[in-house]
Amino acid sequence: MSADRFTSGPPEGARADWTIDQGWARYSPAEHRVWVTLYERQAALLPGRACDEFLRGLKALDLHGEGIPDFRELNARLNALTGWTVVAVPGLVPDEVFFDHLANRRFPAGRFIRRPDQLDYLEEPDIFHDVFGHVPMLTDPTFADYMKAYGEGGLRAMKLGRLHNLARLYWYTVEFGLMQTSKGLRIYGAGIVSSRGESVFSLEDPSPNRLGFELVRVMRTPYRIDDYQQVYFVLPSLQRLLDDTLQDFGPIYAELAKAPDIPIDAITAGDKVFTRGSQAYAQAHAV
Ligand code: PHE
Ligand code: FE
Repeated sequence: MSADRFTSGPPEGARADWTIDQGWARYSPAEHRVWVTLYERQAALLPGRACDEFLRGLKALDLHGEGIPDFRELNARLNALTGWTVVAVPGLVPDEVFFDHLANRRFPAGRFIRRPDQLDYLEEPDIFHDVFGHVPMLTDPTFADYMKAYGEGGLRAMKLGRLHNLARLYWYTVEFGLMQTSKGLRIYGAGIVSSRGESVFSLEDPSPNRLGFELVRVMRTPYRIDDYQQVYFVLPSLQRLLDDTLQDFGPIYAELAKAPDIPIDAITAGDKVFTRGSQAYAQAHAV
């Protein structure tokens, strides 16, 4: 996602919009092998767990198990489908830079790949999370429109001082969203599909709550960045996500300013409950 710990401009070597060349020719054989290992693990796990839109996108982009994708080839396919492109950035970028890219259908992706000893856990998003996790969903026209609208909404939320609320929407949809389908619950969130452990945990573990998606409810719910989620929100469809977010958030932000946060593990009267979680995992891992 984005970070706002930067006060000055882009780092040395980056353009004014923080983009850099991917420099695909510079990846080492060992780096390509990390991609292949991660790709093969997830490709084996995701059929029957990820939603059809994700699996279709993965196929359409040919994010082959042969190595780190070259953005020039990836973009030729992606741009033809939904007008999106992937641009390389040095790491996390400031919020307004991030939102401006999204609003212009550019997805900023890290260029580096995790080390072989970091396959299961990483603090900063790398190219596997950013590309394997995020880009397949950008081939879906509805989701593609949502992400563009989110970028515009982010710039507006910053001006209105409600970015912390809007960031929760990103977290519980783009990163950790589940969807209800005729075949059962499926994953569409990038943070889940790029994680071996959470691909199973999010759907199958009895610990987390799984609750129906409600826009304001989600924006009142804090999230955790250090471990598996304690609650997942389930969308009835991607169209519902786009429709809900196309409304004017002005009145919603006014409402949120008066509404207290909802504890991360709470189930409230209005929630549609898919799973009432035991929270056993969170309790066992509490510090
Ligand atoms: N419609 C929102 C607003 O008026 C913007 C937005 C769009 C937010 C899409 C999130 C996702 O601010
Ligand atoms: Fe992400």
